[in-house]
Amino acid sequence: MPNTLLALNWKMNKTPSEARSWAEELKGKYAPVDGVELAVMAPALDLSTLVANLPAGVSFGAQDVSEHEAGAYTGEISASMLGDIGAAYVVVGHSERRDYHHETDAQVAKKAQQAQANGLVPIVCVGEKLDVREKGEHVAYTLAQLKGSLSGVGAAVVVAYEPVWAIGTGKTATADDAEEMGAAIHDLLAEQYGDKAADIRVLYGGSVKPDNIALICGKPHVNGALVGGASLKVADVIGMNDALK
Ligand code: PGA
Repeated sequence: MPNTLLALNWKMNKTPSEARSWAEELKGKYAPVDGVELAVMAPALDLSTLVANLPAGVSFGAQDVSEHEAGAYTGEISASMLGDIGAAYVVVGHSERRDYHHETDAQVAKKAQQAQANGLVPIVCVGEKLDVREKGEHVAYTLAQLKGSLSGVGAAVVVAYEPVWAIGTGKTATADDAEEMGAAIHDLLAEQYGDKAADIRVLYGGSVKPDNIALICGKPHVNGALVGGASLKVADVIGMNDALK
C-alpha cells in the first residue's frame, strides 16, 4: 500500500517572502506522520525559496507545466526546469486551468508525459461540474476525462478527483462520494496499468480541512487529499497532517 499523500495547492497565493515565512513556521511545528507524505504545490516563483526552507522529508512541486520540451514558448515553464530544482510533482489539468485556460484532455496528457520524461510525478486532476452530478453522470464523465488525460501517460502518476462544485465552495463531497469515485478510478487504472496500478494514489480534493480529512482519507480507495484553501495556514496543515495519524 503506498503512502497517503497530503498534497497542498497554494494556487496563486504567497509571494516568495511569504513562502519563506510559511516554510520556517512549518519547520518549527511539523512532525512527520508514519505512512503520510506531505508535498507543497506552490507558484513556480516560490519554489526556490521553498527548497531552501522546507523541513526535511517534505516534498514540493508546481501547479502547471508546459506541454513542450523547450524553446519559443514565452511565459511557459518546462518540466526540465522544475526537475532541475528538485521538484517531485506537478499538478496538471486542474479544473481552474481547464476552465480559464481552456486546457483539453489531450493537452493535459502531453503535460503529464513531459513531467514523466523529466522525472516528475504528474498529479492529474479530473472531476465533474454540478450539472453533470445532478444528472447522475458523474462517474462516466470523470472516467472519460481521466482516460483522455492519461493517454500515453505511464503508471508513475497520481490522480486527483476534484468535483468542481466542491472546490473552494465549502461544499465537500461526502466520504462515500469520494469512495465511489475512488473505487471507479482504481478500476480504470487497473485496466490501463495492470499490476503497476497498485502503487497509484487516488486523491480527493474539494474543501478538505482538518475536521473532515480523516473521514475522507479513511476510505479504502482514497489515498490522500489535494487541498487548496486549508493549505495556506500552517496551523491547518499541521491539523490535517496530525488528523491522518
Ligand atoms: P479547496 O481547493 O481545498 O480550496 O476546495 C482544492 C483544489 O482546488 O485543489
